[in-house]
Amino acid sequence: MKILVFGATGMLGKALMRRWKEDQVLGLGSAQADIRHPEQVAAVVSSAAPDWIVLSAAYTDVDGCELNPTLASTVNTQGAVNVAKAAAQAHSRLLFISTDYVFDGNNSTPYETTHPTNPINAYGKTKAEAEQRISLILPDSCIVRTSWLFGPGGKCFPDTILKLADTRPQLEVVNDQRGCPTYTADLADAIVRLCQGDARGIVHATNRGDCTWYEFACEILRQAGLKTQVRATTSDKFVRPAPRPKYSVLAPASLTAHGLEMRPWPETLSEYFALRVAG
Ligand SMILES: NC(=O)c1ccc[n+]([C@@H]2O[C@H](COP(=O)([O-])OP(=O)(O)OC[C@H]3O[C@@H](n4cnc5c(N)ncnc54)[C@H](OP(=O)(O)O)[C@@H]3O)[C@@H](O)[C@H]2O)c1
Repeated sequence: MKILVFGATGMLGKALMRRWKEDQVLGLGSAQADIRHPEQVAAVVSSAAPDWIVLSAAYTDVDGCELNPTLASTVNTQGAVNVAKAAAQAHSRLLFISTDYVFDGNNSTPYETTHPTNPINAYGKTKAEAEQRISLILPDSCIVRTSWLFGPGGKCFPDTILKLADTRPQLEVVNDQRGCPTYTADLADAIVRLCQGDARGIVHATNRGDCTWYEFACEILRQAGLKTQVRATTSDKFVRPAPRPKYSVLAPASLTAHGLEMRPWPETLSEYFALRVAG
């Protein structure tokens, strides 16, 4: 197959480029094609004529989106629409990467794909609107919602915790937001298999198991063999521009329906540590 990845320079995009060896893959960053500009997108899509487009490109700074909702909407919604229209024109399939932040966080059991979206921040709104508009343009698209990504080559929670642990004897981490940490290499593998398996519709793809950010930090430090103390705190003590859902655990049924399963997130940390050190 011929594959075109938008967002290949990002944290997940790099994992996709490392993983995807069996097909002919072209990966682009914003310097090669800015998804805000439909003519740039149309030109690269028509020249590559891909079987699948994976749209991983996004404005992912959640607080930045809250402070600059116009930019967020232009990249995350209009950019996605530009890619979907080009895919329709070129008869390419589209796999769009979306987020747990399309949900409001009021659940106390894992979110199924059929649960209504109700985002509480600008980032989540722009991604939820992209999902809806893509589905209208390309009813056979595949929308992969994931959460709490971490991996080498990107700004992510475990990297921040390990850097802070270098300089501080004690850390405070919020214990009132629950989600599913997801290792980019494992997600990349699931994405490749979904494309190869001709997937369509909404799929929730995360590593197995859920935790709070506090529990995540404790496990990172434990597996890294560090003695740094972690104190649990609450989100109201860490006021940030964008509110976060309290609970955004995604149910795995839609992934298992495709014959796929991702391992428990604690099992991925040692691999992440090794690649982080390797640079
Ligand atoms: N990070 C998470 O925790 C998380 C959670 C759930 C879902 N997601 C979703 O997963 C996907 C990948 O996230 P990530 O963490 O890998 O993102 P990332 O590291 O922030 O990378 C973002 C990518 O998007 C590209 N990009 C940004 N603006 C663009 C534009 N105007 N035109 C073209 N490309 C543009 C960047 O290109 P350049 O670097 O070349 O500018 C980069 O390749 C995103 O769709 C995100 O919404 C992420």
